[in-house]
Amino acid sequence: MASRIPLPYSPKVLELFRNPKNLGRMENATASATAGSLACGDMIAIYLKINKDDIVEKASFESYGCAANIAAASVLTEMIKGKPLKEAWKITWRQISDELGGLPAIKYHCGILAVGALRRAIRAYYKKKGRRPEWLPEHLTAEERQALEEEELMEKLAKMRKKL
Ligand code: FES
Repeated sequence: MASRIPLPYSPKVLELFRNPKNLGRMENATASATAGSLACGDMIAIYLKINKDDIVEKASFESYGCAANIAAASVLTEMIKGKPLKEAWKITWRQISDELGGLPAIKYHCGILAVGALRRAIRAYYKKKGRRPEWLPEHLTAEERQALEEEELMEKLAKMRKKL
């Protein structure tokens, strides 16, 4: 019988998994976005309340993923609160991992999904506004591309599973 070895999660990941901050849908969000695919259970939604000066007043999330996904989203929403969108945009999955006391290598993608969702929400906000600030890259960043690739892969796997 196969045995499961527990992943070496940091105490902070475990704490935020058990008591996540900013968990829940935001009904009056200014912008929101998802990353991942519900088909395989790894999915995250980010909600932002942005004020007229493009500052994040509130941030929350919903997660249908693993402990690392929940902890990454929780810490990310804390990191961006009170920040201008320009600063929030620059947050990387490595910073999230550092903030969490490190993620196991197999869980890096959980942080990448969180960043991918945040960047999508920021793009959605400016799209709705009909403008693109000069700091917002025209093309997808590595994190956004990776989130997209994971979604495509997950869709393919879900379709394959259905056929079995
Ligand atoms: Fe996929 Fe954590 S979100 S394993």
